[in-house]
Amino acid sequence: MGIERKKTAPIGVFDSGVGGLTVAREIMRNLPKEDIVYFGDTARVPYGSKSKDNIIRYSKQIINFLKTKGVKAIVIACNTASALALDAVKNEFDIPIIGVVEPGARAALAMTKTNKIGIIGTEATVRSSMYEKIIQGIQPNVEVIAKACPLFVPLVEEGFKKHPVTDEIIDYYLSSLIQTDIDALILGCTHYPLLRTKIRAYVGEQINLINPAYETAMDLKKILQEYDMENPDVEGDHGSYSFYVSDAADKFKEFANSILPYDIETTKQINIEEY
Ligand code: DGL
Repeated sequence: MGIERKKTAPIGVFDSGVGGLTVAREIMRNLPKEDIVYFGDTARVPYGSKSKDNIIRYSKQIINFLKTKGVKAIVIACNTASALALDAVKNEFDIPIIGVVEPGARAALAMTKTNKIGIIGTEATVRSSMYEKIIQGIQPNVEVIAKACPLFVPLVEEGFKKHPVTDEIIDYYLSSLIQTDIDALILGCTHYPLLRTKIRAYVGEQINLINPAYETAMDLKKILQEYDMENPDVEGDHGSYSFYVSDAADKFKEFANSILPYDIETTKQINIEEY
């Protein structure tokens, strides 16, 4: 595989919408010299209710778009696309592509003492059983209990992080999970860390919440080191960040500014179907 070794090139990061910003945020914090080009597929969110074929098609279009921006590596900052499309795209492109599922699975394994791990995610992620496959591929004696929580994504996208209706929906989805003796719960959708405060209050301190974003940023760092592709320098105290979406650029920008450590100035809308 011919890897392009451009140290100063940006990292491509994508998600179906705003969720992947939780991963972009960890990359900003932990790899501050790297530039980022982010794409949020706001016209086609949610991915969690789509078929595998469509998720692979969307992912390929987005990777083609990000490649036009000269990215040196890609992070699929979406559990659904990581679970359903990573294997299909990994060897098709000439740059390293990583997802969030494997880093999340490893982080949960490092944490569990009861050998019982919970995973919450979209319907597509849960149906794929990708977390179970990876966790049990590493440690076969670990039990995995998965639960799809499809309403969490629109709650986040609509800014209901603190709304009381969110508490009711958390209870609806998680009441059976907290009856089990899981001691680690993977937030297996990049939107869910944005509901962390409420989920934490509901599940209590005895269950560790795993956000795969940090481990993913660490994996990215390792890969950049391995290929000698780390950006050696940066102007100012952090890299430059650009944002693209397939719809509703202003709404995206407002949301991004509420959760990222730096204010973003522009978000451009593009027609992703052209790629
Ligand atoms: N944030 C995405 C994930 O991590 C998907 C949300 C959706 O589009 O359904 O799975």
